[in-house]
Amino acid sequence: MTNNVKLKQWVKEWAELCSPDSIHWCDGSEQENQMLLDLMVKSGMAVKLNESKRPNSYYFQSDPSDVARVEDRTYICSEKKEDAGPTNNWRDPKEMKETLRLKFQGCMKGRTMYVIPFSMGPLGSKIAHIGVEITDSPYVVVNMKLMTRMGKAVLDILKDDDFVPCIHSVGAPLQPGEKDAKWPCAPIADKYISHFPGTNEIWSFGSGYGGNALLGKKCFALRIASNMAKKEGWLAEHMLIMGVTNPKGVKKYIAAAFPSACGKTNLAMLIPTIPGWKVETVGDDIAWMKFGADGQLYAINPEAGFFGVAPFTSMDTNPNAMLAANSNTIFTNTGLTPDGDIWWEGIGYDAPVGTITWTNEKYDAAAICIPAAHPNARFTAPASQCPVIDKDWENPAGVPISAILFGGRRPGTLPLVYQSFDWNHGVFLGSIVGSEVTAAAIGLKAGVRRDPFAMLPFCGYHMGDYFGHWIKIGETAPDKTKLPKIFNVNWFRKSADGKFLWPGYGDNIRVLKWIFERVEGTSEAVKSAIGYIPITNAIDINGLSGVAENMGELLKVDKNDWNNEIELIKEHYTKFGDRLPKEMQKQFDGLVERLNKA
Ligand code: GTP
Ligand code: SPV
Ligand code: MN
Repeated sequence: MTNNVKLKQWVKEWAELCSPDSIHWCDGSEQENQMLLDLMVKSGMAVKLNESKRPNSYYFQSDPSDVARVEDRTYICSEKKEDAGPTNNWRDPKEMKETLRLKFQGCMKGRTMYVIPFSMGPLGSKIAHIGVEITDSPYVVVNMKLMTRMGKAVLDILKDDDFVPCIHSVGAPLQPGEKDAKWPCAPIADKYISHFPGTNEIWSFGSGYGGNALLGKKCFALRIASNMAKKEGWLAEHMLIMGVTNPKGVKKYIAAAFPSACGKTNLAMLIPTIPGWKVETVGDDIAWMKFGADGQLYAINPEAGFFGVAPFTSMDTNPNAMLAANSNTIFTNTGLTPDGDIWWEGIGYDAPVGTITWTNEKYDAAAICIPAAHPNARFTAPASQCPVIDKDWENPAGVPISAILFGGRRPGTLPLVYQSFDWNHGVFLGSIVGSEVTAAAIGLKAGVRRDPFAMLPFCGYHMGDYFGHWIKIGETAPDKTKLPKIFNVNWFRKSADGKFLWPGYGDNIRVLKWIFERVEGTSEAVKSAIGYIPITNAIDINGLSGVAENMGELLKVDKNDWNNEIELIKEHYTKFGDRLPKEMQKQFDGLVERLNKA
């Protein structure tokens, strides 16, 4: 336990409100982890996978209503509505707390309340932050054990200091004698993922899944941390962090923001298809970045594990992720084979006869509309198991960032890669990121939507102010010559008949090579209306068949397409009203002017 007065008082208050049968302070030990896994196997919530195939790994099927983040049930409860901005759902903090107190009242009856002290970032690191999550879900505890540093060691470091209080319940109290659901949760209309940036609190009710329930991840490390970062002059971003080493042994670190399910995990651990190049992983989802004493921007990965998209992850597309998830891994909403292994679409081999789907039905390969795995099925694996984990992935000082990439799924308009003219133009590129929507959130309309900086669902304050914060980071940089160079990439451009023009995955190193050499000042580009584009033959496609003929289309900046894009950006920018920084309006006007001249 702890002597931290605030913590003890906080737990006591919530226990009184939620009425759990018992309270368990998590120590983070292996025994505790095993005890919880055994408990869930016994209750029918978990299946232990075949020990000889997937050692120490477990399988879960969620409730069909609880398969991804719920953006329209996610709230930023700032004191003033205008501070949440046009891209967030806002509720008055007092009203939201009143509403939620009623929901939380007695919500843990028949359950155990677990108290999880956790650190985002290496234990004791100056840039790490400590949170404590209260939850009634043992599934959350075992996932937090993989995704964060958690348990007694965190309390030892916390001592009497402050922490971010995170309260979570699946919102499904049990009556005496009532049998628990396989995956308890509340109906969608009763889910509330609420953030109180004024007091750095998170209250999450009704969902047991991923970003809704593992509160260290999107809720803390992005929505609350983006508020902290704005106040304190740093960046909390939805970005992977990777090390790229060229054949001469020169290493540079790159951070990249792509919307959910748009390729961060894959890029972070890619296996280069050009000889002599090496990629190492620091993180696959979240980056916290601060300037170091040498004037460079440094990034840490606040997480300790990967919560990765399972479908289409295979030994062909991402062997490093497959190997990371070989053991000690939790699988949620994949298929399950009769010999106790997992299976999903795109895993690289056919489903064994007798495989069952994530909805626990017999899988029928002929009925392709009913997949074995939910499209947002995920694996939770320790980052330390990734074969290419970077030697500095836990370095409390972080790694120096040379380039920042933005990108999304764009079937047209956006070229394979282009570079911004300067920092503010780079911020503009971030501000106009768009992507076809994916299965990572429930209930979104199909098509391209704007997802600035891949932070649309994760920015904890007004998005216009967030653009302003990025501009300020550039203005106040200790040494502007050391600012990362900014690029936009698009692996997803399609031909008229709907096929990807670019092979993607390991071949993305070919684009990273051009970027690496742009940073070094050795690769060539032409100035276009939208930014610097690789000159013909500047992208190394040696050894790739069937791609040379696509390069023209892949690097094309089509005036008509961009005039349409301008209209979409205008519509997007209108939302921010007078909170759109004038620098961004200037960037927009500059683009329009250059397109008119082109
Ligand atoms: P979150 O965890 O939701 O934030 O997602 P992420 O950005 O880490 O996405 P991830 O790397 O898991 O990729 C999601 C999907 O995109 C997978 O189905 C991949 O197979 C696919 N994908 C990733 N990289 C590429 C690529 O280079 N080309 C193509 N065509 N598909 C890709
Ligand atoms: C995302 O949706 O961007 C994720 C998965 O990384 S979740 O943790 O559920 O937000
Ligand atoms: Mn993510």
